[in-house]
Amino acid sequence: MDFSTINTPAGERGIIIGTTRSGKSTLSKYCIEDWATRYPDSRIIVIDTKPHFKATHHASGIPIQFSRLYATMRSGETIAYSMRLPIGDGTNWWRLENAWGLCRSFTPVNRGLVLIAQTNRLGDFGWLDHVIQTHYTMASKYWWLFTYVDEMMVFLRNRSLRNGVYQCIVSGGELGIGFLGATQRPRNIPPEAITEMSKLYMFWMNFEEDIDHLRDMGVPKNFVIPQEYYLFNYYDKLNRIVKMMKLKLPEVEYEVAV
Ligand SMILES: Nc1ncnc2c1ncn2[C@@H]1O[C@H](COP(=O)(O)OP(=O)(O)OP(=O)(O)O)[C@@H](O)[C@H]1O
Ligand SMILES: [Mg+2]
Repeated sequence: MDFSTINTPAGERGIIIGTTRSGKSTLSKYCIEDWATRYPDSRIIVIDTKPHFKATHHASGIPIQFSRLYATMRSGETIAYSMRLPIGDGTNWWRLENAWGLCRSFTPVNRGLVLIAQTNRLGDFGWLDHVIQTHYTMASKYWWLFTYVDEMMVFLRNRSLRNGVYQCIVSGGELGIGFLGATQRPRNIPPEAITEMSKLYMFWMNFEEDIDHLRDMGVPKNFVIPQEYYLFNYYDKLNRIVKMMKLKLPEVEYEVAV
């Protein structure tokens, strides 16, 4: 089966939930690369507060393999043809536009562009929120915008940091903005944001009661939380599909669990 059938498509919003190490970021990597390959006219922003994802290029155009930037990271996923946005940059449209231009310079023409904005410094999280907001204002009919936020709760639980994420989820649909966010618990997501979600990827989570927060999404009564690492229950709201799945690594295939 083709991975693209379960990915959150352009203009829709999806959510990945699961306990730590359950497989959220790994699934996200395939979602992001699928967007880039399927939508040549796309601009994808990856917001990473761990950091977990590895870009292939610096904003200088130099491949990151030749620097020591990620040398201390034990694990993490490299996103093909992606550029790391310098911290503090991209907070107004022309600086972001400049970054997209740089991405274009090393990305094959038939691929979407990927920018990674990452930092684990709390003091820089305001910058990340600004980057999401600026990205949001660039919506146009000429390309598909996607925002991926790893650990989206970092932004939602803090009033001063949630502007960009909130905009993308609650009013992004009108502008055709695609959004995918990962979180360990859905508890603090406002109901008006939950109702906007059309795809749910539910990994293992200890808090059964949290499932009630997803009722606003129309999650069926019999929807179960998987009890195993890497297994996720997929829910497609528009097509009313519920399926238990697992990514088969390293291929980009998924298998339906029996
Ligand atoms: N389908 C899978 N099959 C085998 N190994 C997997 C699978 N999915 C993820 N893993 C491995 O499990 C580990 C944890 O995965 P991942 O980083 O995606 O979890 P996470 O939910 O994002 O965790 P955290 O909340 O800590 O960020 C990684 O080493 C990853 O390679
Ligand atoms: Mg993760």
